[in-house]
Amino acid sequence: MDKPLTQNIKPDLSAVTLDDYRHTGGYEGLTKALKEMAPADVIEAVKNSGLRGRGGAGFPTGVKWSLVPQGESAGQKYVVVNADEMEPGTFKDRLLMEADPHQLIEGIAIAAYAVQSDTAYIFLRGEYHLSARRLEQALAEARSAGYLGKNILGSGFDLEIHLHTSAGRYICGEETALLNSLEGKRAIPRAKPPYPQTSGLWGCPTVVNNVETLCNVPHIIRNGVDWYRGLGRGEDAGTKLFGVSGRVKKPGLWELPMGTPVRVLIEECAGGMQDGYTLRGFLPGGASTDFLLPEHLDVPMDFGAMMKAGSRLGTGTMIVLDDRTCPVQMVLNLERFFAQESCGWCTPCRDGLPWVVELLESLVAGRGRPEDLDLLEQLARLMGPGNTFCALAPGAAEPLQSALKHFRADFERYLKPASSARVA
Ligand code: NAI
Repeated sequence: MDKPLTQNIKPDLSAVTLDDYRHTGGYEGLTKALKEMAPADVIEAVKNSGLRGRGGAGFPTGVKWSLVPQGESAGQKYVVVNADEMEPGTFKDRLLMEADPHQLIEGIAIAAYAVQSDTAYIFLRGEYHLSARRLEQALAEARSAGYLGKNILGSGFDLEIHLHTSAGRYICGEETALLNSLEGKRAIPRAKPPYPQTSGLWGCPTVVNNVETLCNVPHIIRNGVDWYRGLGRGEDAGTKLFGVSGRVKKPGLWELPMGTPVRVLIEECAGGMQDGYTLRGFLPGGASTDFLLPEHLDVPMDFGAMMKAGSRLGTGTMIVLDDRTCPVQMVLNLERFFAQESCGWCTPCRDGLPWVVELLESLVAGRGRPEDLDLLEQLARLMGPGNTFCALAPGAAEPLQSALKHFRADFERYLKPASSARVA
């Protein structure tokens, strides 16, 4: 946050040490919260800051915290960090944990103080080995420096943070499946409501927040609500990590103000398309979002603006589609991933996704029937919001339905003799 906002964030060989972190104001937010603020003041500040969840859905963080029951009768409460980053094309939380693990630890400690929880878990993607090592080391440093453990900074507040590595399924990133997994059960989503804030880990009130969300919190407490709100260029407050992958000149990750136009990210930060390639579209926030088109390059990267444009901000890490990649094969690749990662708990997802894959495979193999395109559209609708237990299948439906809408001619070309079909 204190770095130039358009800096390309690349993993350094070493993580920020505790000393480095303290030199740039690290743990000042926690100190301020513990010494000068009541838990309710911290929740109010985060609410007023306008911080919205950075995991993909954009739910207001302060509102989420305020839904946790307060007082003695609330009993045991937990903070759980969703660090199971597995959305295709998304690599922002990994870099935060590898490069600056203390920022996350400080964010967790402030969140735990706000909701009065003495136990937090980081649920980390299994393949993130370097993040695991750096977090373990930072947790040990924070414990010895008195930022974790009993009576933190003499405040009477206690907190222990446990690191748990996932066994490695996409569904574990869905917050209620994550809680089941943490409890040692099969990772299937739970019905919501009740939301975890009232009935989460082992049935106790639980705040589940994404890594990047919590990394914003120390800065809000240290620098104030007005400062944070002022960072945004559009409707939403603060900054965010935005990434680009695909045939751009400089794929990477940048911290930019919320509301920055997509054009700045793709053309200035990522250097535009590679020579010989033209932009045809982009998935704005990981794979489970709708395709947008070059005409949307001036849309501000805000939750509301992206929605108005016909997609979602999601994780804010864009996957770019160029004119030499077949959108049908790109979608097939994504749908194979989603079908493989379905937990099988509800019918539209368990049966719908393999059916989509089968239809797309037969299409690209030249065996598609004209009515298959309508069937794909129908399946995308049936897997949509409200018909499934969680957001996996509705998310998988987004690139499919938008590709059918924007790139229909590419699908239709496969219905013609094989010689005229596009090949990725
Ligand atoms: P959601 O909209 O159901 O919930 C978002 C958060 O807000 C949750 O923590 C939920 O408990 C809370 N919430 C929502 N409505 C609430 C209410 N009425 N009362 C209290 N709390 C409420 O979305 P979900 O299923 O948690 O996440 C879907 C998003 O996750 C997608 O937008 C997708 O972009 C993103 N995603 C991110 C991945 C990653 O690796 N970062 C992987 C897969 C999906």
